[in-house]
Amino acid sequence: MAWGTKLWLMLLCFAATCMKHSIHGKPQVPCLFIFGDSSSDNGNNNYLPVTSKANWSPYGVDFPKGVTGRYNNGKTTIDRIGELLGFPDFIPPYADYLPPYPNPHVSDIFQGVNYASAGGGIDEQTGNNLGQVFSLSDQINHHRAIFFQIASELGSIQKARNHLNQCLYYLDIGTNDYTINYYVTDIYSTSVNYTTQQWANHLHDEYYKHLMVLHGYGARKFALSGVANLGCRPYQIRLHRAKGCVESINDAVQLFNEGLRPLVDRFNKEYPSSKFKYVNYTAIQSSIFPDFITGVPCCQTEKFFGACRYNGTYCKNREKYAFWDESHTSDAFNKIAAEKSYNDPKSSFTYPMDIKTLVK
Ligand SMILES: *[C@@H]1O[C@H](CO)[C@@H](O)[C@H](O)[C@H]1NC(C)=O
Ligand SMILES: *[C@@H]1O[C@H](CO)[C@@H](O)[C@H](O)[C@H]1NC(C)=O
Ligand SMILES: *[C@@H]1O[C@H](CO)[C@@H](O)[C@H](O)[C@H]1NC(C)=O
Repeated sequence: MAWGTKLWLMLLCFAATCMKHSIHGKPQVPCLFIFGDSSSDNGNNNYLPVTSKANWSPYGVDFPKGVTGRYNNGKTTIDRIGELLGFPDFIPPYADYLPPYPNPHVSDIFQGVNYASAGGGIDEQTGNNLGQVFSLSDQINHHRAIFFQIASELGSIQKARNHLNQCLYYLDIGTNDYTINYYVTDIYSTSVNYTTQQWANHLHDEYYKHLMVLHGYGARKFALSGVANLGCRPYQIRLHRAKGCVESINDAVQLFNEGLRPLVDRFNKEYPSSKFKYVNYTAIQSSIFPDFITGVPCCQTEKFFGACRYNGTYCKNREKYAFWDESHTSDAFNKIAAEKSYNDPKSSFTYPMDIKTLVK
């Protein structure tokens, strides 16, 4: 065979492989933007003057890059959803773009950014006692900066909107408005000023405004995760010396979740060119719990916040534990939770449809 033919064949094979890769490697949405708290934080708090961090062993023992700031042994639920959507890499934390750690791969922002910050909530005050955590409104301000960066790279605001229209926006926030605000009565007067129903209403009003701002920056596909049954966390069970879940906390959280459903209906009606989905996280949690050890965490914890002890030990059979530390679910749990919210054709856990249908 002549060299020319051989080279040509090689190039052809190369092109074919490339093509196969680009088909297989192409995510179902071009971009994913993530807003939330410690359940989704993948390193943002490492660089903040805050006490809510998880950048020590044994966090990350099962994560390919080791300790990253993720609050469990491996991947977060949104890491897993990102994989199911076909993203070849994890969505980088917003902190990667901040000095003194500017990420040189500026084009990454076209694939999305993770703004989630451990300790952050919907209410502005939530998490203030932990330092300068990023609240939902901070996270949306950061998205605004990214929006203008994309606009400047693409050449116009309209082009930025056109690109951002196609992305998925995943929000999992509200937990801390209960666990480190409403129920921390020695620091916050919230429970004096608000009944649980009034507090849920207040959070919905704030959430609504924030979602409108995101919509203004071109967001059209939203997945809103409800808050888990926080009374079932080992931390609350220990704090209240309860035998099982602390039902009064679960009841308060349910008021928040029940209001998200009509919020999603209202959005879908008012903005027919947008799609909003509610992920019923408590239903997912209840369906997974029976297969796991749930009342105690896998890692050896510090009493104070129930975080894993520095360089502490952890259980042997960690795939059987729902919780890694006293407040955060394990990699094994997150994997199943992600699958249930992504692919749920009967809508047992999602409303009105699953995340898979959101991206089509
Ligand atoms: C609760 O009310 C008091 C007195 O009106 C006020 O000082 C405080 O800021 C309020 N707290 C919240 C969380 O709204
Ligand atoms: C979530 O699912 C549970 C169990 O199926 C159900 O009781 C609850 O009403 C659902 N919550 C919302 C807000 O749809
Ligand atoms: C934890 O382990 C690391 C690595 O072995 C070590 O450098 C560090 O000093 C240890 N920290 C504590 C608090 O024991």
